[in-house]
Amino acid sequence: MTASPFLEFIAREHPAFVHVPLGLVATLPLAMLASFRSRSPERWTRTAFFMALVGLASSAVAIFSGLMWGRQIALIPGGGFFPVVASGKQVLQRILQLHEMAALGGFLLGCLCVFLLWRAWHKDNQAALGGSPHRRHEGRRLWERGVGAPALAVGLMWLGAWGFCGKLGGIMVFGNEETNKAAAEAVEAKRLDAEAEVPVRALDYASLEPAEAVPFLSKAHGNRWGRIWVTASAIDAYKAGKPLESGAYAVMSTYEDHGGKPSEDVGPLYFLEIAADRKPKLAFYWPRVPEAQRAEVGGKDFVYWRSPDPHLASCLVCHAQGIAQSK
Ligand code: HEC
Repeated sequence: MTASPFLEFIAREHPAFVHVPLGLVATLPLAMLASFRSRSPERWTRTAFFMALVGLASSAVAIFSGLMWGRQIALIPGGGFFPVVASGKQVLQRILQLHEMAALGGFLLGCLCVFLLWRAWHKDNQAALGGSPHRRHEGRRLWERGVGAPALAVGLMWLGAWGFCGKLGGIMVFGNEETNKAAAEAVEAKRLDAEAEVPVRALDYASLEPAEAVPFLSKAHGNRWGRIWVTASAIDAYKAGKPLESGAYAVMSTYEDHGGKPSEDVGPLYFLEIAADRKPKLAFYWPRVPEAQRAEVGGKDFVYWRSPDPHLASCLVCHAQGIAQSK
């Protein structure tokens, strides 16, 4: 994704932006408490109202920048608002979900708080139409004075929600035991995954059984010439058109078409494996994409996609049930 330098700045500075609303909301209860004193309660009510208003407005910038940042580092999917948590191991995604909930919860509490403060200020103005400004609050009970006890309670809850949100933000930036462990596990899983960088089994297709003697023109795979190679134990089932057992896999090696004949130009490798749950797992490997064909793969000069990569969704139109034989 290419973003404008301005958006890039907004996104990267999220950890800085958040301190403006946080600072205001952290000091807001002090202004609110001051309004309960009998001296100049209106002034403190007004101060609290503006502090809350600026805090709420600046939090909109912080929330927007957080969303942009999450999308830039691909924790939040492109057009989405929340991270997708596919497994319990995705600690960062789980924390980010909570972080977003706390931010939004705080924002709603903030709206309510601003409304209550505005009402308290309004009430003062009404009262000001009669009586001396210093005496107006004296007849009221303590919790009805100044901003009023409900506004103070909502303000404290607002601070609580954002305090929690900020704590989670700190964990995501600096890490804690759980995130560090998850990161170490991810590195270890990658080390154990022999096909993380290249599809070793697909590249070794010549060790498998060929399903046909000569290449055929495959319209379904970019009009390339292909040969299909299947694991030895599954080749009979494949030729008989039966579904393959879990663990079996097939590779289609390809050559580009030159004037109706297969050429020496090697095309991508197509891979299909029947997983333990009998669902197909796919891969697409094109180690050197010629310049003229890069538009087919979003401008890339190297492509290695594996399930569940969204680029392979188009394969599933034909391969949702596993192998497809219609040549
Ligand atoms: C339009 C339907 C269609 C699409 C899209 C498609 N395939 Fe196929 N695929 C087929 C058919 C039909 C065959 C049988 C050989 C042939 O006719 O090309 C096949 C064969 C294969 C084979 C050999 C094993 C078998 O099923 O016979 C592999 C591996 C394979 N495709 C992988 C892929 C991958 C990976 C993608 C996505 C990048 C993909 N295919 C997209 C229809 C499709």
